[in-house]
Amino acid sequence: MTQTLTLRRPDDWHLHLRDGEVLAGVLPDTTRHFARAIVMPNLVPPVVTGAQAAAYRDRILAAMPEGADFTPLMTLYLTQDTDPADVAAAHEAGIIKAVKLYPAGATTNSASGVTDFDAVRPVLETMAERGLPLCVHGEVTDPAIDIFDREAVFIDRVLDPVRRATPGLKVVMEHITTADAAAYVREADGEIGATITVQHLMLDRNAMLVGGIRPHYYCLPILKRGTHREALVAAALSGNPRYFLGTDSAPHVTATKETACGCAGCYTAPIALACLAQLFEDEGDLGKLDDFAGRFGPEFYGLPLNDGTVTLTRSDAPVDLPKATETGAGPITVFDPGRRIHWSVTG
Ligand code: NCD
Ligand code: ZN
Repeated sequence: MTQTLTLRRPDDWHLHLRDGEVLAGVLPDTTRHFARAIVMPNLVPPVVTGAQAAAYRDRILAAMPEGADFTPLMTLYLTQDTDPADVAAAHEAGIIKAVKLYPAGATTNSASGVTDFDAVRPVLETMAERGLPLCVHGEVTDPAIDIFDREAVFIDRVLDPVRRATPGLKVVMEHITTADAAAYVREADGEIGATITVQHLMLDRNAMLVGGIRPHYYCLPILKRGTHREALVAAALSGNPRYFLGTDSAPHVTATKETACGCAGCYTAPIALACLAQLFEDEGDLGKLDDFAGRFGPEFYGLPLNDGTVTLTRSDAPVDLPKATETGAGPITVFDPGRRIHWSVTG
């Protein structure tokens, strides 16, 4: 029996589109399924001013596939030189929907990020006044802190103090990976949300490290132990509007991942929705996917819900998933969810 699932057209609240040939190659994988995406600003050099965000938005629009209906929601990369007046003007003009905080050195292209969180207080205060969300890469960079503990330590050392110092600041803790982060977001006072990725819902660190090292599962924050994955699944299925989808789809050409020092990032855009349908079905609550992928994000950002729909169809036989997306810079390996997927987007 064929089963179909119709969802409100979803949005991706954390996405890397890159630039140039990679942008042109990967953009159709997102526009096919998603109506909007919060586009990360960690280009080289990063997108730090309103003018740069507008120019990047125009490059994305110029790369759009024929007939696509997609709106990129732009972000600024916060540095210690960011001018609060420029942030306010870019927000006022509708150019940006969020500002991204990378602790310096925490992840791919984050060298210009923040080392002194007090130094950016004037920008954060401007954002709090305007209701402009701060998207946070929540990991400390202290070399003394084990990579598997960096998110939990960040909550105590940085996130909670920053939120207390700037009351009213709206924060999205991006790509949460631990039970600690899920609990903090659930229990914190004030306006706080969290994005959750496909890979952190589907896999734990054993998938990356047992029986051989699998570079395509290496992303930041790194996959954690299974108990953390279970906490994330519980959060995504809880119906709590603070948790919503952000794929963190992060394309790197295959050669830069299959190497002695591989880049961090999982490329999930082409298969994210099919994987989520399988996951929610396997967890016995397919009905929760619609709000997680299509309602809680726009409600948090104060944006209208999408009008359109996407339809997924379940087949008895597992579907063949795409293995790679070709770009002018080389192929990008698509994330392998490590389980049979019976769903595909059909309309
Ligand atoms: C992202 C990237 O490649 O830009 N990588 C990742 O592992 N998630 C950066 C990020 O979101 O941390
Ligand atoms: Zn990311």
